[in-house]
Amino acid sequence: MPNLAVIGHPVAHSRSPAMQTAALTELGLAGEWTYGALDFAPEDFEAEVAELAAEGEYAGVNITVPHKEAALALADEASEAARAIGAANTLTFTDGRIAADNTDAGGLLRALPAGSAGGRVLVLGAGGAARAAIWALRHGGEGAPDEPGEPTTMPPSEVDVWNRTAERGERVAAELGARAVAAPNLADYILIVNTTAVGLKGEEPFDHLPLGASSFGPDQVVVDMVYGDEPSPLLEAAAGRGAVVVDGLEMLVQQGALSLRIWTGEEPSLEAMRAAVRH
Ligand code: ATR
Repeated sequence: MPNLAVIGHPVAHSRSPAMQTAALTELGLAGEWTYGALDFAPEDFEAEVAELAAEGEYAGVNITVPHKEAALALADEASEAARAIGAANTLTFTDGRIAADNTDAGGLLRALPAGSAGGRVLVLGAGGAARAAIWALRHGGEGAPDEPGEPTTMPPSEVDVWNRTAERGERVAAELGARAVAAPNLADYILIVNTTAVGLKGEEPFDHLPLGASSFGPDQVVVDMVYGDEPSPLLEAAAGRGAVVVDGLEMLVQQGALSLRIWTGEEPSLEAMRAAVRH
């Protein structure tokens, strides 16, 4: 009986177990596969994961905050995306070996409407989530399918990076083939991706980010990785100006669907997963 889980610290709030269980149920695999949550403290993470991989009851795990860098470090092999990003959100266990992947990158591309990559895009932030977004947008790749099983191709984009701490933004941009900008002109971008934590604790995004509520327009796509039960203030403002908006829950669904595909080889139902994360 293959088990799956999300590992985080804390992890009790995670929507992944409900979402992935809904996907497994829809695939008819829920009798055979399970998906739970494991809270591993950072000091125990490496030993606990090694034990999971060795004992053979788990097929793989999703990895969330704060373990994504440690997950890459302990893997026996890693995808190009995970290595370039420097973090893994998906581990697969095969005969005691651990393979690392990063589906946050592909998940972003699949969450975007067709036509929103391939031009000049802006990423706000320079942490782990930003690295996955920058790498994905720089490379392009599989987008959401127009028809089931027929993914579109998202072309590579020119990526500008803004970060509160400019020096960190410059370092990440140089490493990933992007360009650091200090004062972005919003009209230049077809896509704006907020990877910063701004908005998570109710902060007013326009006090902290180089954006104004009036800077958005109908030709733009705005992604905010922050999510809760209500739309984020950033997405509310962007939608109010006619922009197409993509929220963090859609990103969660898309990265989870790609992880489940790695483990089961099946294409899960995005609709079932969306319904589960949004209750
Ligand atoms: P993650 O791995 O989730 O991306 P992280 O590495 O802690 O998390 O990065 C958080 C990002 O949010 C950083 O880009 C951070 O900017 P700094 O590099 O300047 O710290 C950004 N961030 C957090 N709080 C912010 C705020 N109040 N205003 C602007 N940016 C903020």
